[in-house]
Amino acid sequence: MAARITGPVIELRGLARTYPGPPPVPALRPADLVIEAGDYVAVTGPSGSGKSTLLHLLGLLDVPTEGSYLLDGLDTSALSDRDRSALRGRRIGFVFQAFHLLPYRTAVENVLLAELYSSPCCRTPRSRWKTTGQPTTSLRRTPTPPSASLPTPTRSRGISTG
Ligand SMILES: Nc1ncnc2c1ncn2[C@@H]1O[C@H](COP(=O)(O)OP(=O)(O)OP(=O)(O)O)[C@@H](O)[C@H]1O
Ligand SMILES: [Mg+2]
Repeated sequence: MAARITGPVIELRGLARTYPGPPPVPALRPADLVIEAGDYVAVTGPSGSGKSTLLHLLGLLDVPTEGSYLLDGLDTSALSDRDRSALRGRRIGFVFQAFHLLPYRTAVENVLLAELYSSPCCRTPRSRWKTTGQPTTSLRRTPTPPSASLPTPTRSRGISTG
């Protein structure tokens, strides 16, 4: 998967999504959009106007029914499901409005889950944590309170989401 270094980070060409229904719902009508590196973009609009649909497409969580989506110049519509997931793991970060933590895991384990998906070998972050008791790089940059090793339901909302 070759990706270019310069040019838009995101480029949509007539990107559209119609949910099959019945009846079919044209949730996102063909849209063109260019987002350059360093841009901050907000998607606004009334309820039902297709914001989440667009974000699901941009996040490679869903596939369009029309048009193309280039990420770093790479046409994502040509990717297999596996390659799309790999690209999502490498290039896209999500901050959910509602946090989605595994309730039976600690905060540290929840954070490690993201590293687990993005590590070349799926056992790396966990086995490192298990064998050395040390978190991997991204966790080392973040001060973790003692409660980080408690199961997530016992934690305050601020710590769960922050
Ligand atoms: N899985 C689905 N199947 C069928 N229709 C859907 C599906 N998901 C969303 N829709 C419809 O697509 C349209 C756009 O929905 P979408 O969730 O993208 O809007 P939104 O702008 O995010 O709304 P809100 O501000 O309420 O979150 C709506 O008419 C919605 O009912
Ligand atoms: Mg929405």
